[in-house]
Amino acid sequence: MITAEIKKYVDKSVLCWLATSSLDNIPNVSPKEVFTYYGNTNIIIANIASPQTVKNIKENNNICVSFIDVFIQKGFQLKGVANIVGKDDTDYDTIQAPLLQITGGKFPFATITNIVVKEVKRILAPKYILYPETTEEQQIQSALKQYKT
Ligand SMILES: Cc1cc2nc3c(=O)[nH]c(=O)nc-3n(C[C@H](O)[C@H](O)[C@H](O)COP(=O)(O)O)c2cc1C
Repeated sequence: MITAEIKKYVDKSVLCWLATSSLDNIPNVSPKEVFTYYGNTNIIIANIASPQTVKNIKENNNICVSFIDVFIQKGFQLKGVANIVGKDDTDYDTIQAPLLQITGGKFPFATITNIVVKEVKRILAPKYILYPETTEEQQIQSALKQYKT
Protein backbone atom coordinates (compact mmCIF):
# COMPACT_ATOMS: atom_id res chain seq x y z
CA MET A 1 0.00 0.00 0.00
CA ILE A 2 2.82 2.45 0.85
CA THR A 3 4.94 2.14 -2.27
CA ALA A 4 8.54 3.23 -2.75
CA GLU A 5 7.24 6.35 -4.51
CA ILE A 6 4.98 7.29 -1.59
CA LYS A 7 7.90 6.75 0.80
CA LYS A 8 10.02 9.07 -1.36
CA TYR A 9 7.36 11.78 -1.07
CA VAL A 10 7.04 11.27 2.69
CA ASP A 11 10.79 11.79 2.95
CA LYS A 12 10.72 14.89 0.76
CA SER A 13 7.69 16.55 2.38
CA VAL A 14 8.51 18.98 5.17
CA LEU A 15 5.03 18.69 6.66
CA CYS A 16 1.93 16.57 6.50
CA TRP A 17 -1.58 17.83 7.21
CA LEU A 18 -3.64 15.48 9.35
CA ALA A 19 -7.43 15.69 9.18
CA THR A 20 -9.60 14.14 11.86
CA SER A 21 -13.21 14.55 12.80
CA SER A 22 -15.00 14.58 16.13
CA LEU A 23 -17.98 12.33 16.82
CA ASP A 24 -20.29 15.23 16.00
CA ASN A 25 -18.62 15.74 12.60
CA ILE A 26 -16.53 18.83 13.30
CA PRO A 27 -13.43 18.56 11.10
CA ASN A 28 -9.94 19.41 12.38
CA VAL A 29 -6.82 19.79 10.26
CA SER A 30 -3.36 20.54 11.59
CA PRO A 31 0.23 20.37 10.36
CA LYS A 32 2.70 17.78 11.64
CA GLU A 33 6.37 17.78 10.90
CA VAL A 34 7.40 14.65 12.77
CA PHE A 35 6.00 11.87 10.63
CA THR A 36 7.18 8.94 8.57
CA TYR A 37 6.11 5.54 7.22
CA TYR A 38 6.21 2.39 9.31
CA GLY A 39 6.58 -0.73 7.20
CA ASN A 40 4.51 -0.87 4.01
CA THR A 41 1.09 -0.18 5.48
CA ASN A 42 1.41 2.41 8.23
CA ILE A 43 2.12 6.11 8.72
CA ILE A 44 3.22 7.24 12.17
CA ILE A 45 3.02 10.79 13.53
CA ALA A 46 4.37 12.17 16.81
CA ASN A 47 1.82 13.84 19.06
CA ILE A 48 3.80 16.65 20.59
CA ALA A 49 1.14 19.35 20.79
CA SER A 50 -2.03 17.91 19.24
CA PRO A 51 -4.80 17.64 21.83
CA GLN A 52 -7.75 17.96 19.45
CA THR A 53 -6.27 15.47 16.98
CA VAL A 54 -5.81 12.89 19.75
CA LYS A 55 -9.27 13.52 21.19
CA ASN A 56 -10.88 13.12 17.77
CA ILE A 57 -9.04 9.89 16.94
CA LYS A 58 -10.18 8.38 20.24
CA GLU A 59 -13.77 9.23 19.27
CA ASN A 60 -13.56 8.52 15.54
CA ASN A 61 -10.60 6.65 14.09
CA ASN A 62 -11.12 7.68 10.45
CA ILE A 63 -8.40 10.06 9.28
CA CYS A 64 -7.00 11.63 6.15
CA VAL A 65 -3.41 12.81 5.79
CA SER A 66 -1.88 14.79 2.91
CA PHE A 67 1.66 15.79 2.08
CA ILE A 68 3.37 17.31 -0.92
CA ASP A 69 6.86 18.10 -2.06
CA VAL A 70 6.40 21.89 -2.21
CA PHE A 71 8.99 22.26 -4.97
CA ILE A 72 7.83 19.51 -7.35
CA GLN A 73 4.24 20.25 -6.27
CA LYS A 74 3.16 16.64 -6.19
CA GLY A 75 2.28 14.42 -3.29
CA PHE A 76 -0.29 12.05 -1.87
CA GLN A 77 -3.53 11.99 0.07
CA LEU A 78 -3.91 8.89 2.26
CA LYS A 79 -7.02 7.79 4.09
CA GLY A 80 -7.06 5.21 6.83
CA VAL A 81 -7.77 4.31 10.39
CA ALA A 82 -5.68 5.53 13.29
CA ASN A 83 -5.00 4.55 16.83
CA ILE A 84 -3.18 6.35 19.59
CA VAL A 85 -0.15 4.48 20.91
CA GLY A 86 0.79 5.43 24.47
CA LYS A 87 3.93 4.86 26.50
CA ASP A 88 2.30 1.94 28.32
CA ASP A 89 1.69 0.05 25.07
CA THR A 90 4.14 -2.79 24.48
CA ASP A 91 5.04 -1.65 20.95
CA TYR A 92 5.61 2.02 21.91
CA ASP A 93 9.42 1.88 21.88
CA THR A 94 9.55 0.13 18.48
CA ILE A 95 7.06 2.55 16.93
CA GLN A 96 8.67 5.67 18.31
CA ALA A 97 12.19 4.73 17.09
CA PRO A 98 11.88 6.10 13.50
CA LEU A 99 10.31 9.33 14.85
CA LEU A 100 13.11 9.76 17.38
CA GLN A 101 15.55 9.57 14.48
CA ILE A 102 13.83 12.65 12.99
CA THR A 103 13.86 14.76 16.17
CA GLY A 104 17.01 13.43 17.79
CA GLY A 105 14.99 13.40 21.02
CA LYS A 106 14.59 17.20 21.04
CA PHE A 107 10.80 17.14 21.40
CA PRO A 108 8.96 14.96 23.91
CA PHE A 109 6.19 12.84 22.41
CA ALA A 110 2.98 12.61 24.43
CA THR A 111 1.73 9.73 22.28
CA ILE A 112 2.04 8.48 18.68
CA THR A 113 -0.67 8.32 16.04
CA ASN A 114 -0.37 5.01 14.20
CA ILE A 115 -2.30 4.95 10.92
CA VAL A 116 -3.17 1.92 8.82
CA VAL A 117 -3.50 3.25 5.27
CA LYS A 118 -6.57 2.05 3.37
CA GLU A 119 -6.77 4.41 0.36
CA VAL A 120 -4.17 6.26 -1.66
CA LYS A 121 -4.72 9.18 -4.01
CA ARG A 122 -2.17 11.24 -5.88
CA ILE A 123 -2.08 15.01 -5.45
CA LEU A 124 -0.61 17.14 -8.19
CA ALA A 125 -0.62 20.81 -9.09
CA PRO A 126 -3.30 21.54 -11.73
CA LYS A 127 -0.60 22.91 -14.02
CA TYR A 128 0.56 19.34 -14.71
CA ILE A 129 -2.93 18.52 -15.99
CA LEU A 130 -3.78 21.79 -17.74
CA TYR A 131 -0.35 22.05 -19.38
CA PRO A 132 0.82 18.44 -19.74
CA GLU A 133 4.16 19.53 -21.20
CA THR A 134 5.06 20.91 -17.72
CA THR A 135 8.15 19.24 -16.33
CA GLU A 136 9.06 18.72 -12.68
CA GLU A 137 12.15 20.84 -13.24
CA GLN A 138 10.00 23.77 -14.44
CA GLN A 139 7.77 23.44 -11.39
CA ILE A 140 10.79 23.42 -9.09
CA GLN A 141 12.14 26.60 -10.71
CA SER A 142 8.76 28.32 -10.52
CA ALA A 143 8.28 27.31 -6.85
CA LEU A 144 11.79 28.54 -5.99
CA LYS A 145 10.94 31.91 -7.54
CA GLN A 146 7.62 32.07 -5.70
CA TYR A 147 9.07 31.19 -2.29
CA LYS A 148 11.88 33.73 -2.61
CA THR A 149 9.49 36.70 -2.88
C1 LIG B 1 5.56 23.64 11.14
C2 LIG B 1 4.81 22.94 12.23
C3 LIG B 1 5.08 21.61 12.52
C4 LIG B 1 4.38 20.94 13.53
N1 LIG B 1 4.64 19.63 13.79
C5 LIG B 1 3.95 19.00 14.77
C6 LIG B 1 4.16 17.61 15.04
O1 LIG B 1 4.94 16.93 14.39
N2 LIG B 1 3.44 17.04 16.04
C7 LIG B 1 2.54 17.76 16.79
O2 LIG B 1 1.93 17.19 17.68
N3 LIG B 1 2.32 19.05 16.55
C8 LIG B 1 2.99 19.69 15.56
N4 LIG B 1 2.76 21.00 15.30
C9 LIG B 1 1.84 21.71 16.17
C10 LIG B 1 0.40 21.47 15.84
O3 LIG B 1 0.13 21.59 14.46
C11 LIG B 1 -0.43 22.52 16.60
O4 LIG B 1 -0.14 22.44 17.99
C12 LIG B 1 -1.88 22.35 16.33
O5 LIG B 1 -2.57 23.44 16.88
C13 LIG B 1 -2.37 21.03 16.88
O6 LIG B 1 -3.75 21.12 17.01
P1 LIG B 1 -4.75 19.92 17.04
O7 LIG B 1 -4.79 19.40 18.43
O8 LIG B 1 -5.98 20.61 16.61
O9 LIG B 1 -4.26 18.91 16.05
C14 LIG B 1 3.41 21.65 14.27
C15 LIG B 1 3.12 22.98 13.96
C16 LIG B 1 3.79 23.61 12.95
C17 LIG B 1 3.44 25.05 12.64
